[in-house]
Amino acid sequence: MKNTFESRRRFLLTAGTAAIWIPTAVRGYSSTELRSLEAEQLKSANISKWELDTPALCVDLDALEANLTMMQQTVTSNGIASRPHAKTHKCPAIARLQIEGGSVGICTAKVSEAEAMFEHGVNEILLTTTNVSPSKITRAMNLRKWCTGFIQATDSSENARSLSEAAQASGIIADVVVDIDPGMHRTGISPGQPALELAQLVDQLPGLHLRGILCYDGGSQHVKGFSKRKAQTLERLAAAGETYGLMQRSGLNTEIFSGGGTGSYNIDHETPGFTDVQAGSYVFMDAQYLAIGGANDPELYSDFRPSLTILTTVLNDQYDGRVTTDAGAKACTINQPWPIVKGETGMQYRSGSDEFGTILYDDPSRSYRVNDKLEVIASHCDPVVNLYDQMYAVRGDRVEAIWRVEARGMSS
Ligand SMILES: Cc1ncc(COP(=O)(O)O)c(C=O)c1O
Repeated sequence: MKNTFESRRRFLLTAGTAAIWIPTAVRGYSSTELRSLEAEQLKSANISKWELDTPALCVDLDALEANLTMMQQTVTSNGIASRPHAKTHKCPAIARLQIEGGSVGICTAKVSEAEAMFEHGVNEILLTTTNVSPSKITRAMNLRKWCTGFIQATDSSENARSLSEAAQASGIIADVVVDIDPGMHRTGISPGQPALELAQLVDQLPGLHLRGILCYDGGSQHVKGFSKRKAQTLERLAAAGETYGLMQRSGLNTEIFSGGGTGSYNIDHETPGFTDVQAGSYVFMDAQYLAIGGANDPELYSDFRPSLTILTTVLNDQYDGRVTTDAGAKACTINQPWPIVKGETGMQYRSGSDEFGTILYDDPSRSYRVNDKLEVIASHCDPVVNLYDQMYAVRGDRVEAIWRVEARGMSS
């Protein structure tokens, strides 16, 4: 019995699951080993990303910082603000960088995400999804009690009444924006009279404080070609813009008109009254966004740099025209277009099977051998991040920090 116990203890220690850091000469730092390091220890350990055990989620700090700067400079020069969507990164460390860089706050998609962000030091949070269940409404209003910068979206009179009652029960007056449908019929209330009446109701309800409107047009973000995307975005935001005008003329508070995303961040400000862009993916970029084309290049959207990669190891090179890696659907998702092998050409990546990725050679710029490591750019960044407990913040090749994905799996 004692032997079993002892060997389990030894196993735990060598596997790095214990709280103690065990220096090891073996290349291939496991996520648990690295998590146990203090920031100072990480610095002195001088670990290269190529020594990380795989699959591992990496974020290139130079690219990430360039993306934050690009967004902030653009919105500022367009006379608006940024309120980035944290549904993309689910990571308070990045939310804090965004706010330090000038964002007026962040957005979250779920109340649990908002709770995680608040718990880790973020106070300015717009919850862009309407909560309908009594338990979520209560949670949101309870969060508002502690988080004074919390704003909740609503899209029906029934919901607004429930919010007001829950806010009163929590002893607060809750900040609310009216969510307006841009025509997708996914969420939000119809623009014009219905939205105006809801805003008037919110303004009158004793537990609520109207802050303005939200209108997110997800259907325009990935329209290929800048001019087509611009035309569709502005056409579909126009009704929300008119509603904004109606609200203003009715004397309602219109301090917030939030919306837009990575594909429309340099377009949305042309809608009168628009105040802030909720872009999320711009911090990381992904294969889906790279393909939409920008103002200067119809094929490649290069306003932002791909900063997020999945580091993977080649497991098998025995067959012609292909190799197998350890990053399949559970590391990359099955979203398409498929992940892109970073820095290489003439090869395609497939992540359709659970545990294995495949590189298919066409006219490859290089070939891989077993145990080689390589990076792929995610197909769609949001669901990929949700697969990992942590991401490695890398400068050059060096791991500078380990960022917990604190809101990972917070989908309720
Ligand atoms: C309400 C809302 N705002 C903003 C965004 C951010 O969009 P993107 O990641 O395309 O920048 C999303 C993404 O789905 C969203 O749902």
